Amino acid sequence: MKTICVKVSKTYDILIGDGILENAGAILKDTVGGQAAAIITDDNVAKLYGERLLSILAQNGYRTASFIFPNGESSKSGGTFLSLLDFLAAEKLGRADVVVALGGGVTGDLAGFAAACYMRGIRFAQIPTTLLAAVDSSVGGKTAVNLDAGKNLAGAFYQPDVVLCDIALLSTLTPQTFRDGVAEVIKYGVIADKDLFEALKIPIRDQLEDIIARCVTIKRDIVSGDEFEYGNRKLLNFGHTVGHAIELLSEYSVSHGHAVAAGMAIAGRAAARMGLCGEDSSRSITQMILSYDLPDNTRYDAQMLAEACLSDKKREGESITMIFPKEIGKCVLKKIPVGQMKAVIASGLEEL
Ligand code: GLY
Repeated sequence: MKTICVKVSKTYDILIGDGILENAGAILKDTVGGQAAAIITDDNVAKLYGERLLSILAQNGYRTASFIFPNGESSKSGGTFLSLLDFLAAEKLGRADVVVALGGGVTGDLAGFAAACYMRGIRFAQIPTTLLAAVDSSVGGKTAVNLDAGKNLAGAFYQPDVVLCDIALLSTLTPQTFRDGVAEVIKYGVIADKDLFEALKIPIRDQLEDIIARCVTIKRDIVSGDEFEYGNRKLLNFGHTVGHAIELLSEYSVSHGHAVAAGMAIAGRAAARMGLCGEDSSRSITQMILSYDLPDNTRYDAQMLAEACLSDKKREGESITMIFPKEIGKCVLKKIPVGQMKAVIASGLEEL
């Protein structure tokens, strides 16, 4: 088992290993405490691991309850968020009790935002069940729900008290959901670690614990220097500006990781065209994306994508900060004036 300690506004551990779920009750009692634990999960994950976690928590003395919502991005809404708050109140959770997010990015973001708001902040544990949540969304404290106008437009920075990443839980992922996480893993290689990027030439499934720990360490280091995303944390958004636009335009039928993969390839080609990186770097990114059966482009045109980008929360007045590779392992932030977004995106849509 690997332990990675995050020291930001809260200090907490991320535990990564095989079979951690079995010890989740004891670990939560030790680290988080509380009398009651509310498991927040979707209907897919509930079937797989919900009962098991309930009984593990009960064996360790927790009064338990579970809130199960329909799987999918459409549940990451204001409506589900309010129902969840009502549920926590009906179950009489107090501030010293714990909200446990058992699931992927949607679950973690939704449960985390409810944990941040309920009684102005209740204890919060993340148990990621997808690769994407393990390497990215369960760590670093971003929580949110979507609004009609765009993704993650209502949310809070609210760090978990502990993250329990049991790699055994990832064995039931569909190939499509696993690939969503692979896109975020590739992202870490491109933004911060050439050796990690090279290591991805060996299938990620064969080195899961190590890869997750490397990604989480990169994220920990970036978030520690910029918890509230005033500067370098924006590097973690590589591929996300266009990625979020693709998700929005597809009404979320293109999943997050697949959209981010296309967004990274588009940003890479645009960077090569602007002379920010060599064509070889852009091609390496595209090849890695394709080698994991992820998309390296989108059917939406530059006009549609640019318009969708303008509703993204990354817009700062008349510009949007985009992330471009300089080389594998190094990215730069660049402010793109709103009027140039369409041309930049168009240059990234065109093959090199
Ligand atoms: N997923 C990007 C971040 O946490 O900043």
